Amino acid sequence: MEIKIRAFQEGDLAACLEVEAAAIKGSNHYMNDVLDYYRTTRGEMTVAEAEGQPVGMGKLTVLFDGSAWLELLRVHPDYQRQGVGMAIYGRYLEQLQELGCPAARMYTGVKNVASSALAEKNGFHRGPEFQGLTLNMDKADASLFWEPPVFRLLNGDEAVLELLALKEKCGGFMDINHTFYELNEKTCRGFAAQGWVYGDGKGNVLVAGARFQPEKALYIAAMGGDRRKALSFALNLAVLSGVQKICAHFPVNDGEQAAFLEKHGFERNPSDLVIMEWTKEK
Ligand SMILES: CC(C)(COP(=O)(O)OP(=O)(O)OC[C@H]1O[C@@H](n2cnc3c(N)ncnc32)[C@H](O)[C@@H]1OP(=O)(O)O)[C@@H](O)C(=O)NCCC(=O)NCCS
Repeated sequence: MEIKIRAFQEGDLAACLEVEAAAIKGSNHYMNDVLDYYRTTRGEMTVAEAEGQPVGMGKLTVLFDGSAWLELLRVHPDYQRQGVGMAIYGRYLEQLQELGCPAARMYTGVKNVASSALAEKNGFHRGPEFQGLTLNMDKADASLFWEPPVFRLLNGDEAVLELLALKEKCGGFMDINHTFYELNEKTCRGFAAQGWVYGDGKGNVLVAGARFQPEKALYIAAMGGDRRKALSFALNLAVLSGVQKICAHFPVNDGEQAAFLEKHGFERNPSDLVIMEWTKEK
């Protein structure tokens, strides 16, 4: 089968949405919502064409620290196991050189053999694992709404100071919209510029926001200091933005954080996630 790799064009949308719907069972389809946002990012939305039509796709996005995030990789089931995924990875690897990315990462379910095997075949290795927790706002702990702390947006310098101190606790990564950002100075500054870092300047901090689909969910990336205050502030943010759920990911071994969130109505997601990583040879 001949596979042609090229950048996404407007006329591809309907076929790509079909690929997404066929490749991912259930309702986690987001391509249509993120396309405009993707146009504002560095890194190509790539399409794999076979028999004259798009049968696969994948996006590379350069994050605040210059590393690449690989996302929305989908191959239509009728065309799987015929080298389409490999061809898209080929374009990813080319871009890593063109864009000078020092590292590249993606996440997948710990049980997604196809996705991790494909990544490993392209020089990626398994990184840390994360557990996800979700709060349906109907189940939010009402007592936390009434005592929100006086948090403000922290600036870049403050974010660097407060967030790097949480690095070990966060397993080295902070997640917004299932995008796992490596925690380093550039990431902290990027987060502050996005308006995702809140605190009281006394060590109590909440990192929360949405990279896209802000109407769907608020992501808590970290809570530092008094967690009750941080969660209370997050609940109030969620109410203000009208979202129905709050999502959070923490290292699988951080039972304390999970227990705290479960106590306040969060439920553990059915599957844990693993980050797959590639780093440039020195
Ligand atoms: C993961 C996915 C993109 C792979 O695409 P693909 O076009 O089938 O992959 P390829 O044919 O290029 O496979 C290349 C290699 O990956 C590995 N691989 C792919 N599918 C596999 C499977 N089901 N089981 C085990 N290994 C697999 C193999 O090493 C394979 O080489 P081989 O066929 O010579 O053994 C595709 O299965 C898919 O779209 N899945 C649903 C969406 C998804 O899980 N996306 C990943 C992000 S979470």
